[in-house]
Amino acid sequence: MEYSSRTVLVSGGAEGIGYAIAKALGLAGMNVVLGDINKPSLQSALTQLQELDINCTGLVMDVVKADDWRRAVDLAISQYGALHALVNNAGVGGKPGPIENNTLADWQWCIDVNLLGVVQGVQAAVPRIKQAGGGFVVNVASMAGMMGVPYGGEYTATKLAVAGLSEAWAVELAAFNIHVAALCPAFVSTNIHLSERNRALTHGQTTTPDEIELPDPDSVMSQVVTNGINPDLVAQRVIEALNAKEHYIFTHPNYRKAVQQRYAAIDAAFERAESSAIVGHLCNHPLDAFVPQ
Ligand SMILES: NC(=O)c1ccc[n+]([C@@H]2O[C@H](COP(=O)([O-])OP(=O)(O)OC[C@H]3O[C@@H](n4cnc5c(N)ncnc54)[C@H](O)[C@@H]3O)[C@@H](O)[C@H]2O)c1
Repeated sequence: MEYSSRTVLVSGGAEGIGYAIAKALGLAGMNVVLGDINKPSLQSALTQLQELDINCTGLVMDVVKADDWRRAVDLAISQYGALHALVNNAGVGGKPGPIENNTLADWQWCIDVNLLGVVQGVQAAVPRIKQAGGGFVVNVASMAGMMGVPYGGEYTATKLAVAGLSEAWAVELAAFNIHVAALCPAFVSTNIHLSERNRALTHGQTTTPDEIELPDPDSVMSQVVTNGINPDLVAQRVIEALNAKEHYIFTHPNYRKAVQQRYAAIDAAFERAESSAIVGHLCNHPLDAFVPQ
């Protein structure tokens, strides 16, 4: 792999997709820095990586906190001399359900972790990746970043935003030899449906993790997640896609038709605008490109 012997920071790397990606990148020869809010999971993840002879270190961090990101980047540099890559993976499932059941506090939690956590990761890591001469950023979005998910408003909002940011950053950072990709899986067998376990740790709730109400294991969400694909498949696909310099990393080709239907609806809406008596005359106007001075 092009990036072997370079250093990668993986947020939310103690479990699930983050751990699988960290393991795959470590086995491909990268030095791995895990950042995660869950201390026991982090310790066990580091032990497992060490047993595989992967160079690794880690820290307890909350992606919502800028200071934690600074500590994470400093750890990577003090341990391995430079930082070349970031996997912005830490995320939560939010609170699926009807619109009226979600409070602003529910929205805030999801936006803080899934969107602003990603933004802060890039702000902390990208200047160092530039200094190192380039590398990559993989932002873990979702298939929910490719289409709206009913009963998952706040999750959709954050994942569409992460997909859009990845497009913006891919162009901006290409000049610095930094490849940016959005990973967009559908269901993967992890503990994402139990995300409430992390909420007390990040959003100062008084409940201890043991007292948190987790969803019924027979709920639809629990079923679709536990029946999802193995995280190791996702991780291997990430390596394949990084080697091929893909900007959108898909793991579920069976969702292609659903996404095509969304694009077809958008294209049909453009067609109606083209034939609109009000704006149709703008059809052949040149595009205005925004280029900062
Ligand atoms: N599992 C799926 O079906 C699926 C599908 C598409 C996208 N994703 C995305 O994949 C990413 C990883 O999720 P997963 O499925 O592995 O879930 P998971 O709950 O199994 O793992 C999430 C990890 O992130 C950590 N974490 C949570 N909040 C954190 C915080 N504030 N700071 C630091 N670490 C934190 C957790 O401790 C855990 O180790 C998320 O961004 C998620 O939205 C998951």
